[in-house]
Amino acid sequence: MQQNTWTLWTVFALSLAISRIHAGAVYPLHVYGVFLVLFLLMEFIYFGIGIPVWDQTEMTINAYSWYSHFLASHYGGKGEKTYADFSEGLFFGDYTLSPGEAMVNKYEHVFKELKLAPGMTLLDCGCGNGQWIDFCKKKGVDAIGLTFSQEQVDEIKAKGLVAHNKDFRHFHEEFVGKMDAVTFLGPTEHTTEAHGIDAESRAFQTYTGFLRNARMYLKPKGRILMATLVLNNFSRTPENMWRTYLLHRHFGGYYAQRETLDSAIKYAGLSQLSVTDFTRDYHWIGQIEPRHPGGKHRIDTSENAMDKLMYTVWGILCDPFVLHRWVYWYTDTWAWHVGALAQTSPISDEQIKKSLSNLNYYLLEAKVKEEEVKINVE
Ligand SMILES: C[S@@+](CC[C@H](N)C(=O)[O-])C[C@H]1O[C@@H](n2cnc3c(N)ncnc32)[C@H](O)[C@@H]1O
Repeated sequence: MQQNTWTLWTVFALSLAISRIHAGAVYPLHVYGVFLVLFLLMEFIYFGIGIPVWDQTEMTINAYSWYSHFLASHYGGKGEKTYADFSEGLFFGDYTLSPGEAMVNKYEHVFKELKLAPGMTLLDCGCGNGQWIDFCKKKGVDAIGLTFSQEQVDEIKAKGLVAHNKDFRHFHEEFVGKMDAVTFLGPTEHTTEAHGIDAESRAFQTYTGFLRNARMYLKPKGRILMATLVLNNFSRTPENMWRTYLLHRHFGGYYAQRETLDSAIKYAGLSQLSVTDFTRDYHWIGQIEPRHPGGKHRIDTSENAMDKLMYTVWGILCDPFVLHRWVYWYTDTWAWHVGALAQTSPISDEQIKKSLSNLNYYLLEAKVKEEEVKINVE
């Protein structure tokens, strides 16, 4: 059982006890009122005081589990024509392309940037349903995926590909010196937490840690491509506060600032070959692909209805943030956070500038000078 479920039930038991003492009997509305007050108190302890009373990794795992149950069945799964993956497609200015074409564009672009070729090796950290490792395998690259969603591992294995249920923030000795390339196509914003005043330094430590691991997995001349959302423009308006709260509770995680990423890359012993902004493409895929997790996707209640019902029951009983997920989805918060709510044209430069977050591709390689590689942050 998840730690967050234990916490949820402890808060519920406390609510029952307090309500009973206070009202002399158990009145459901009264219990609910006390529960709400305690829940809000927990949120204050988490964000205000900075004590992580909820587990971020479980939040992220549950977010992807929620998608596995509520997106169109086998979104990107076995035997399914692939429409799009969990992240952006690349349009390179041609916004008439279909989501599938844009996704293949992205894979071709990343393949080229990494200088991959048949016979080479790739580790894909945060591999989703494995479309990218599938693409690489078809091109003769020996690709392995890591994800901490068991539903995704099952989906990938059913396609005859290799994936492990492993957290890429941990060091995995078996990959050391074995990879020609390491990719992070959209998972890094789930790696660290937003609580307390030290969120940015925590992000720095976390990014440095997994990037340093990735560097150690590389063969000489190997490359890393990290597609990551960076915090771009945040002011404490009520809408920003409310929506970023929803984002955090649905996905778990934190968006680091550019300066923090630059330092983490440096201290991990890596140098930046290029940084490219693809915020517009990320927003657009959510507008044209209704099955994309960022799209205003329709929940098809006729498809796998029993599974959806059972998962909803599980969510109510075990997931403290089940309500947040639905509100997040209903209020189109994903599109908002990459530039704008639903619109029929790609977002403008001005919208990208004002956007809460920007999607940046970092192409990285190990530093060549020995003394630079030895920098230590602990
Ligand atoms: C936005 S999705 C991107 C998936 C895929 N790269 C794509 O583009 O379709 C993020 C993925 O990262 C995985 N993930 C997030 N944090 C992780 C971690 N610390 N270790 C392993 N997988 C992680 C999630 O399970 C999910 O598969």
